[in-house]
Amino acid sequence: MFNFHKNHRLLVGTAALGFILLSMGIAIIPALQMQDVKPLPGMEELSSEELKGLHVYVSENCMSCHTQQVRNIEMDQVWGQRPSLASDYYFSKQRMDLWRQSPSLLGSERTGPDLTEVGKRQPGIEWHLLHLYNPRIVVGESIMPSYPWLFEEKSPAMVTKKDVLVPVSADLLKNPEHKLVAKPETLALVTYLQSLVQMDIGQDLGPDFIPSTREKKGQSSGEKSLELDGIQLYAGTCAACHQPTGDGIPGAFPPLAGSKIVNDPDPNTLIQIMLSGYDARPEYGAMPGFADLLTDEEIAAIANHERSSWGNKAPAISPEQVSEIRKFIQNQNP
Ligand code: HEC
Ligand code: HEC
Repeated sequence: MFNFHKNHRLLVGTAALGFILLSMGIAIIPALQMQDVKPLPGMEELSSEELKGLHVYVSENCMSCHTQQVRNIEMDQVWGQRPSLASDYYFSKQRMDLWRQSPSLLGSERTGPDLTEVGKRQPGIEWHLLHLYNPRIVVGESIMPSYPWLFEEKSPAMVTKKDVLVPVSADLLKNPEHKLVAKPETLALVTYLQSLVQMDIGQDLGPDFIPSTREKKGQSSGEKSLELDGIQLYAGTCAACHQPTGDGIPGAFPPLAGSKIVNDPDPNTLIQIMLSGYDARPEYGAMPGFADLLTDEEIAAIANHERSSWGNKAPAISPEQVSEIRKFIQNQNP
């Protein structure tokens, strides 16, 4: 009866039926189910700069090593506040242009960390620029490739006011007299990376989601202050720029070892810098503030680690002191 050798209609018909069923199952039905995905409340469209950055991200194929998906399993909880939802991709899945759809940003390889929340973890522009030029400058043992073609060496006379200089040491340049300038598309890529933060939608995600064991960050949590590990918190929050050794990176991030501010017996300036950020000197970049990311206890734990490491010696501070300064700053700019 099923003699495919003799009956060409049956052969073509069966192949066509298989093709149609498979297309329905893996393309058409899922596409129909996605039609009512809506952006999350308060979610904004990507700015033109972010969109340009997304295109650089795609053309450099960063997805081959980085995912942007927090799965609903416990080991993914370090990468976000909650599992990713289809709505999270509403705007970043726009077509590249008429002919090209945006390739999948979800990624399937995690050679490097997931980038869903990298805007929170790495907020500084100088850090990103150094890291893209040569990841080993900021992360000694990194295996991420360098992207030197995203930068341009210029003789000092050619540098214009608009150029964004990257603070690399001269021995990394082809011509040590030159300055390193970030190309416009690189700045767009960094803007895009800085914009990567999960939208907060509250905690109620329904019964299917594994509840996060991560503590909500922000204000004082009131407990566990003694158990907090300043070394680990420093490694996760500050070491990217100031380095695990506290030595900083010349021209980009100042050393904390031997710093007057860190060793000052009066901790006010230090706490204020950690909460609100710091951009005082032209020879260094700008430091972002951590008021929204760290609790009073965490700030105290980091400060005490800094004040007692790398030869630094200054009296310990308490979470209450941080809390007072936090209130003071909030009252100044409500
Ligand atoms: C060969 C794999 C690979 C490729 C390709 C790659 N990365 Fe990475 N990336 C890594 C690894 C490994 C790390 C962790 C070490 C480090 O921080 O350098 C990393 C770290 C990062 C971080 C810091 C993440 C964090 O949590 O601190 C950012 C941001 C980043 N990469 C962006 C990019 C961008 C943008 C591209 C494309 C231009 C890219 N990466 C391409 C492997 C890769
Ligand atoms: C994105 C990079 C970056 C990160 C992350 C970062 N800093 Fe900074 N920090 C800087 C830069 C840049 C400066 C110098 C700003 C200036 O002087 O204009 C600075 C300055 C400082 C100073 C002043 C030091 C001195 O002697 O002048 C202290 C203290 C400090 N940071 C502490 C911290 C702590 C604590 C953390 C972690 C909670 C942290 N920083 C995270 C970039 C960073």
